[in-house]
Amino acid sequence: MEKPKVVLGVSGGIAAYKACELLRRLTESGHDVRVVPTEASLHFVGAATWSALSGNPVSTEVWDSVHEVPHVRIGQHADLVVVAPATADMLAKAAHGLADDLLTNTLLTARCPVLFAPAMHTEMWEHPATQENVATLRRRGAVVLEPAVGRLTGVDTGKGRFPDPVEIFETCRHVLRRSSLARGVAAPDLTGRHVVISAGGTREPLDPVRYLGNRSSGKQGYALARTALARGARVTLIEANTGLPDPAGADIVRVGTAVQLREAVLKAAADADAVVMAAAVADFRPETYATGKIKKKDGEEPAPVALVRNPDILAEVAGGGTGERLRPGQVVVGFAAETDDVLANGRKKLLRKGCDLLVVNEVGEHKTFGSEENEAVVLAADGAQTPVPYGPKEALADVVWDLIAPRLG
Ligand code: CTP
Repeated sequence: MEKPKVVLGVSGGIAAYKACELLRRLTESGHDVRVVPTEASLHFVGAATWSALSGNPVSTEVWDSVHEVPHVRIGQHADLVVVAPATADMLAKAAHGLADDLLTNTLLTARCPVLFAPAMHTEMWEHPATQENVATLRRRGAVVLEPAVGRLTGVDTGKGRFPDPVEIFETCRHVLRRSSLARGVAAPDLTGRHVVISAGGTREPLDPVRYLGNRSSGKQGYALARTALARGARVTLIEANTGLPDPAGADIVRVGTAVQLREAVLKAAADADAVVMAAAVADFRPETYATGKIKKKDGEEPAPVALVRNPDILAEVAGGGTGERLRPGQVVVGFAAETDDVLANGRKKLLRKGCDLLVVNEVGEHKTFGSEENEAVVLAADGAQTPVPYGPKEALADVVWDLIAPRLG
């Protein structure tokens, strides 16, 4: 089989050196990568590095190898163009259709999915000119990742950091996978949508060293976040105790307990088009929290742990019981892990919680928890039932978005 053709565009920001890692991931996983740096980016990483790592010739100008018409061919033949890092200048040129070097020419001739991973100082990112350019590119079907928040060049901290190259690679993989399944270009169907995803498992503290927890790894929630990002959505990922690397482009909110998760979900859901509750939420929490470590006492039986109910976040957002959505028109999705009577329990739960979709899977000692694969049935409030065969969690995630997308108002 022919290797998928990826164009890695590199514009002139200090994060160019991090794109070397992205290139390595792409080549090592069987992609034929053509690096097209801008002239400015060669101040940061030289053409020899790109050529050695990609195994392909590297040029910045349309005047090199003119007989091969590279300024047209490279874009025409690509399966994916990823511009990483994308500077404010590059976003502006792309948004306005300028074509003064090989990379900008390539962007105009590409008919495949295009992904931008911007990196710049916070002020440049937040400037209305940049924001309008980003909006233009997204409207035209490009996926523009939000930069990460953190340490920038020098002493500054803020939004504008280049996302982890390993995570940008993951987004590239998702985008390519979707187009290959669609046997063409799969348009990013969640552009302009804000989706909220909870992932992981809550921990309810008993004392400073102990908690009641569960075995959710968070991997399914992260797969939902990564696939939504690759489909163009703005993603708020509320994570509870996962320890997993942040997906490129997601806004991350970290929580510990069910009460904190509720607060974060309600806040993020206020302007969200869809809420997907993939987190395993503890139904109960210890009634009291011991500020000092609970000690055992010789000759005494352990004291029972009194528990109180946690709020049901999904039911609150979906309007279970009241029939009233917190935000009318919002699509609300729950997950249910069941050990017995999986489908019958799932149907009852869907009704009780009031959600639009419920992803039901059977769990057991060796099923689902922590694994890379999943198998499930997605139940819909209208009675539909979509079985998803055993496979990668990202495949299940894409089915969930396939079912959410047409339900969005
Ligand atoms: N959930 C929630 N708040 C809770 C408990 C669960 O939002 N306090 C959400 C989960 O995120 C999940 C769905 O509800 O999307 C179903 O979770 P599950 O634990 O299976 O449901 P329970 O209501 O706890 O039902 P059960 O009696 O089977 O434990």
